[in-house]
Amino acid sequence: MRMPSGSSVRIQALTRPGWQPSEEISEKRILLYLENKHMLHIVEHPLIEHKLTLIRRKDTGTKDFRENLNEIAGLMAYEITRDVPVREVQTETPMEQCSTYELSRSIVLIPILRAGLGMVDGISSLIPTVKVGHVGMYRNHRTLEPENYYAKFPKNIKDAVVLVLDPMLATGGSASSAIETLKKEEALIIKLVCIVGAPEGVKRIEKDHPDVDIYLASLDRGLNEKGYIVPGLGDAGDRIFGTK
Ligand code: PRP
Ligand code: URA
Repeated sequence: MRMPSGSSVRIQALTRPGWQPSEEISEKRILLYLENKHMLHIVEHPLIEHKLTLIRRKDTGTKDFRENLNEIAGLMAYEITRDVPVREVQTETPMEQCSTYELSRSIVLIPILRAGLGMVDGISSLIPTVKVGHVGMYRNHRTLEPENYYAKFPKNIKDAVVLVLDPMLATGGSASSAIETLKKEEALIIKLVCIVGAPEGVKRIEKDHPDVDIYLASLDRGLNEKGYIVPGLGDAGDRIFGTK
């Protein structure tokens, strides 16, 4: 499920209406970024698998579900941020001056309400400087189409690494619509971070947004007749917030 060739992705990004590379993000950096990425990443780690088992269990309660979901998101953050741009800085240690690196892009989390909120603490405990925007969206249970009800973003998301958070990638409609909203705000570097995904959702994002990397802890078998992921973990929002 690799993404299409770098050049089509690059052209798409560079021809997005009104987009200009800022002084800080050199065009070369953007081109390198765009040419090398865009794929499905399954973040595999024994700790993630163990915690995933806990949240899949139907008798896991709200407290343990919420804690383990956040911890999985935190563990995934290491892999998700592996390629975020850094800049060289001169640093004075107690011994001498040396060249070191610091993050050169701000990192913005965009949880898709409500369930995406269940991943914010886990990632922000590792990256305390993150800014957080919100996209409000729910799936119409009859049509399975997303209904947008809220959007609020930090300034300058066009220069940031934007992580869209939602535990569930089912049909992909919600995530695709959230990404579309972010692109209208000129966000350029967008990564979609979900815990459990269905192949249907992955295909939808690959088709609608071939310039977006997808990170999952598990790619599950598929969707049932009600659009729920199987084996999945049920309704993530209800399990996080105890609403059922
Ligand atoms: C769930 C989930 C995703 C969406 C996934 O949210 O958190 O946002 O469904 O389905 P899709 O890929 O088919 O669009 P839901 O609509 O249940 O809202 P909630 O988070 O408020 O519970
Ligand atoms: N939303 C959920 O919360 N769970 C699913 O399996 C699919 C969509």
